[in-house]
Amino acid sequence: MKKVRLGIIGVGAQGGLYAGFISEGKVKNMVVGALCDIDPSKKELCAKKYPDIPFYEDYIDMLESGTVDAIVTCVPHYLHPEMGIEALKRDIHALVEKPAGVYTKQVRELNEFAATKPELTFGIVFNQRTNPLYQKVKEMIDQGEIGQIRRTNWIITTWWRPQGYYDQSEWRATWAGEGGGVLVNQAPHQLDLWQWICGMPKKVYSNVKYGYQRDITVEDEVTAMVDYGNGATGVFITCTHDIVGSDRFEILGDKGKIVVEDSKKITVKRLHESESELSKSMSWADVTKIFMGGDLGEIYDEEVLEFSSVWGAQHIAVMENFAANIIDGTPLLAPGSDGIYGVALANAIHLSSWLGKEVELPLDEELFLVELNKRIEEEEK
Ligand SMILES: NC(=O)c1ccc[n+]([C@@H]2O[C@H](COP(=O)([O-])OP(=O)(O)OC[C@H]3O[C@@H](n4cnc5c(N)ncnc54)[C@H](O)[C@@H]3O)[C@@H](O)[C@H]2O)c1
Repeated sequence: MKKVRLGIIGVGAQGGLYAGFISEGKVKNMVVGALCDIDPSKKELCAKKYPDIPFYEDYIDMLESGTVDAIVTCVPHYLHPEMGIEALKRDIHALVEKPAGVYTKQVRELNEFAATKPELTFGIVFNQRTNPLYQKVKEMIDQGEIGQIRRTNWIITTWWRPQGYYDQSEWRATWAGEGGGVLVNQAPHQLDLWQWICGMPKKVYSNVKYGYQRDITVEDEVTAMVDYGNGATGVFITCTHDIVGSDRFEILGDKGKIVVEDSKKITVKRLHESESELSKSMSWADVTKIFMGGDLGEIYDEEVLEFSSVWGAQHIAVMENFAANIIDGTPLLAPGSDGIYGVALANAIHLSSWLGKEVELPLDEELFLVELNKRIEEEEK
């Protein structure tokens, strides 16, 4: 196979973007094989913009047309697992959009089915994993540069969305259409990076506000506290109503600290000895001397790394990596099966707030679904 023929399911904001990138030749080894959308206005739009590309109203017809080798699911989140499974069933490679689904039970079904087709490529659009900044943070943690993790905090409130954003389409910010708010729409990238870099916690406790500053039924304000089961803890804060938002990710280890600001700058402080050793060896007089105007360089080195990113480059990188995996087996940066971790975190945060207590991971998937369905029913009343 020279070039992967991609079928884009859903030609809305994201699908439209990918159709543009690929047809402009920006994605190596990929062409648009077909487009699909249930909305008749998208059919008209595609006929004008891409007259030579086949268009389907039903994605199953597209999968069976012989025009695509792979698909990407640019449709509301609930549909990603079902479409991934239907593609893989027909020996078509699947790239699912984030989040992998709304609840872990449906994502687990997708993962289990994909595991029966190891010869096919199954990826997820976690474009932030292609960001050299987060790759560097992961490398530093994996290599133990700041030692054993003691605490993680991420405040990511740069998602300001005015009411007009929510009013533009029916499915957004509803339990039935979207399955959640900021946790399932805006923050999945950070939930994935958080667990990719720091690991999955064992327990989650949260305070979540639903329709707090926006006229929506789902969450627009989240504070979650996690316990990694080994003494380490973490906090994740996100919202969609902070017009002067923050993006600050801190990881404290027993041998140093990493601070990421605005996804652009890493400051890493590496202790010369671990904090426990310093606690044993330093006298209180040494401490006061160093901290009251002395040289902190005596106890740690500091390095600052700055990064810049080009808009669109990350999504193109995910597509190219997906195509390369199909063509020559290049390892995937974001295997599709990894999508379940971020969904499990979002589900646990929701469930903890619904039950008003700490919840354990792995999650009680059935209980989550019962509680989610209650909210769908209430919303429809
Ligand atoms: N990776 C990223 O950075 C990123 C960014 C934005 C959106 N997304 C994801 O992409 C997905 C789509 O988001 P969007 O903003 O493009 O939404 P959108 O509402 O703009 O577009 C969705 C499109 O899907 C179509 N559709 C719905 N059901 C369909 C079906 N059964 N078959 C075919 N088409 C169908 C709709 O008609 C619409 O055109 C979401 O899951 C979202 O989380 C990912």
